[in-house]
Amino acid sequence: MGIYLPEKVLTNLDLEKMVETSDEWITTRTGIKERRIAAEEQVTSDLGVAAARQALDRAGLKPEDIDLILVATNSPDTLFPSTACWIQKKLGTREMPAFDLQAGCTGVLYGLIVAEGLILSGVCRRVLLIGVDILSKITNWEDRTTCVLFGDGAGAFILEESADDSGLLSHFWGADGSLGELLILPGGGTLHPASEQTVKEKMHYIHMKGNDVFKHAVKRMGESIIEALKSAGLDKHQVDFLIPHQANLRIIDAIGERLDLDPEKVVVNVDRYGNMSVATIPVALYELQEEGKLQPGKIVAMVAFGAGFTWASAVYRW
Ligand code: UT7
Repeated sequence: MGIYLPEKVLTNLDLEKMVETSDEWITTRTGIKERRIAAEEQVTSDLGVAAARQALDRAGLKPEDIDLILVATNSPDTLFPSTACWIQKKLGTREMPAFDLQAGCTGVLYGLIVAEGLILSGVCRRVLLIGVDILSKITNWEDRTTCVLFGDGAGAFILEESADDSGLLSHFWGADGSLGELLILPGGGTLHPASEQTVKEKMHYIHMKGNDVFKHAVKRMGESIIEALKSAGLDKHQVDFLIPHQANLRIIDAIGERLDLDPEKVVVNVDRYGNMSVATIPVALYELQEEGKLQPGKIVAMVAFGAGFTWASAVYRW
């Protein structure tokens, strides 16, 4: 695994100077204290490449040792080419397939499931999966209901078939497109092509009905993790670590309570990074490993929810 977090830290106190909000509101409603913001000249592929390079170094591999670049993102460098292709160029790999996967904040877990299928079916031997977003560039910094929530970051995994019984034990995934309007970036696609009007109406930024999203997130993430555990043949008390998507501490707590997990088993980084979308789970997993908590045999359950709506969970034996 590898990660990249931009250097610039934006605190709640900084936000108090930008919009009508308070550290107290943000802390009690979301659990967020600070988040990282990419530099103006950084693009999504830059963050992804930095995370990928670290993952390759730690694995003792070179770019030519992988045979697919799969990038989960919601804030691509360009609508096309894909961010995966920009990353391929910057990594300087040999020719290989490279594509983006867009599934809201659930993208990296969708990516894990797709990569597993490709590896087990023999299509790929080693997949570089990157979850990366620069949400700060698609956030309306005048909208206090969204701008306090998001952050930027990247995480990368190199995935291959395991020689022992470690690895992905089970997954559960789903989507409900009928609720797409609740969390949407409406402008710039064929529905609302970029125009003076779309710019004026701030349609190139994230729009979210936070309250509705909150309710669906708690319900779907709770159900999804229970289903994945069931298909892994595991009881919820066998989970050593639960990594929920980091959108809001109240959502994370609600899922931990639903599973009746000891709070120490529920991984939280939303206080330090805000909602980094597809990067939250990889960064949390990386930090768990850095803290020396991921000994072989540990059961790690991950669960995410995002625009679409989409949801997914994955249960791993480390
Ligand atoms: O990553 C994809 C998934 N995303 C999520 O899961 C996000 C889910 N949603 C949430 O996390 C929460 O709904 C929010 C954090 C976005 C909002 O929290 P809430 O408790 O649902 O607040 P609310 O939207 O019901 O707003 C309560 C009040 C409103 O004022 P009134 O109408 O009660 O007077 C808002 O205008 O808080 C006000 N408010 C703020 N006040 C200070 C909204 N944003 C802010 C703010 N600072 N930044």
